[in-house]
Amino acid sequence: MNANAMRVALSLLILLMWAPRRIYSQERRLVKMTLVRNASSIGAYCLDGSLPAYHWDRGFGAGARNWLLQFEGGGWCNDVKSCLDRAATRRGSTRYMSKVEVFSGILSNNASLNPDFYNWNRVKLRYCDGASFAGDAKFQNGTSLLYFRGQRIWQAIILDLLPKGLGQAKKALLSGCSAGGLATFLHCDNFTSYLPKNASVKCLSDAGFFLDARDISLNHSMRYFYNSLVTLQCFFPQYALPYIKTPFFILNSAYDVYQFHHILVPPAADPHGHWYHCKLNPAACNAVQINTLQGFRKYMLETLRPFFVNSTRGGMFINSCFAHCQSELQDTWFAPDSPRVNNKTISEAVGDWYFGRKVSKEIDCAYPCDNTCHNLIG
Ligand SMILES: *[C@@H]1O[C@H](CO)[C@@H](O)[C@H](O)[C@H]1NC(C)=O
Ligand SMILES: *[C@@H]1O[C@H](CO)[C@@H](O)[C@H](O)[C@H]1NC(C)=O
Ligand SMILES: *[C@@H]1O[C@H](CO)[C@@H](O)[C@H](O)[C@H]1NC(C)=O
Ligand SMILES: *[C@@H]1O[C@H](CO)[C@@H](O)[C@H](O)[C@H]1NC(C)=O
Ligand SMILES: *[C@@H]1O[C@H](CO)[C@@H](O)[C@H](O)[C@H]1NC(C)=O
Ligand SMILES: *[C@@H]1O[C@H](CO)[C@@H](O)[C@H](O)[C@H]1NC(C)=O
Ligand SMILES: *[C@@H]1O[C@H](CO)[C@@H](O)[C@H](O)[C@H]1NC(C)=O
Ligand SMILES: *[C@@H]1O[C@H](CO)[C@@H](O)[C@H](O)[C@H]1NC(C)=O
Repeated sequence: MNANAMRVALSLLILLMWAPRRIYSQERRLVKMTLVRNASSIGAYCLDGSLPAYHWDRGFGAGARNWLLQFEGGGWCNDVKSCLDRAATRRGSTRYMSKVEVFSGILSNNASLNPDFYNWNRVKLRYCDGASFAGDAKFQNGTSLLYFRGQRIWQAIILDLLPKGLGQAKKALLSGCSAGGLATFLHCDNFTSYLPKNASVKCLSDAGFFLDARDISLNHSMRYFYNSLVTLQCFFPQYALPYIKTPFFILNSAYDVYQFHHILVPPAADPHGHWYHCKLNPAACNAVQINTLQGFRKYMLETLRPFFVNSTRGGMFINSCFAHCQSELQDTWFAPDSPRVNNKTISEAVGDWYFGRKVSKEIDCAYPCDNTCHNLIG
């Protein structure tokens, strides 16, 4: 091959490698980060002392005065060591975060991908405090400095958004997934308190219904973990839910993979790795393991029963997919083959509940009945 042919071949190769991505990127909504410059006036800092941030995609048309706020998720740190490590990553510092985020699923601006919220103001609150936007403390010992200022970050972002239109909202929805779904339980009524009295305000927790459950060795591992969170007191949504006054929607899988791997079968409870294959693929679980998983589902449904029976303004979608976070990804939120319960997609269930179109309390049949799942298989 001569040099010219080589060049042509190379550029063809590069074109081939880039072409699919370029087509894909036309469909992706990219939204820039906004640093909350004034956050320091109330001492709101990320773990490492950097300024907190959000990404805001402005609403338009009939949605111009409606606001969807979404807490970013991403686990927790639970002691000085793990929080110091975290402070040097994108999970604990806006310095290391991507400055542009893809808005998809419930954050999409495309009516055919997100029919009920596409034209709202959509805001992603970046997560950098390590404790579900809940702490209010500082660690300092001469050589190390850590801010646990989740409460203030929450407040600083709200105060920044109020004059940008949030303060005149007609409709609002506070959402979040995983650690962000937990934050939704924590801040739901507080969110309402900042908005006009005549606004319609509701909250949606995605994969945030962490159960106070025993693991397979009968240990309350998650309780230990929560207790050791530097600032977050022992807190489980199931105990807070009855006190939340704002209409609430609970979206969760009954076999949530995070809870399966960290609450039901934490590594310490399975030192010999009997659950290794089952964790990677539910089809590899034996009968005893399936029974254990069904027990977890049963406990979740029992825990939610008072809410299911008595909450007139609440909604729920408890499906039986091995998943964790289903509102942020397009293919689980709203797509031709996305998960359904009673033939309803998650997007439809949340929209029906938010707009009061119909009662929206969907509970799936037990695994493995649901063939619409996109099971996470590791
Ligand atoms: C910044 O914060 C201070 C104190 O909270 C407040 O008085 C001031 O109005 C804020 N400024 C802006 C531009 O938000
Ligand atoms: C919206 O999404 C649909 C379905 O993926 C796509 O065909 C259409 O081009 C998108 N519209 C815009 C403006 O991106
Ligand atoms: C401060 O805490 C860090 C993390 O626990 C530790 O590595 C460091 O030695 C401490 N410094 C002092 C002066 O105690
Ligand atoms: C809302 O949360 C902020 C920050 O944690 C707190 O300062 C404020 O008092 C709360 N408001 C209400 C009404 O509870
Ligand atoms: C709430 O009341 C204010 C002041 O009366 C009004 O401007 C606003 O449009 C009302 N919002 C809704 C959602 O009715
Ligand atoms: C229970 O969990 C705690 C915290 O992870 C651990 O210290 C303890 O050893 C565990 N007990 C058993 C029996 O696994
Ligand atoms: C629903 O509320 C009624 C009245 O407060 C109560 O008696 C009943 O036990 C509740 N049902 C459930 C399942 O919690
Ligand atoms: C399920 O919903 C789709 C539209 O979302 C509809 O086309 C289909 O007929 C429904 N299937 C059943 C069995 O109701």
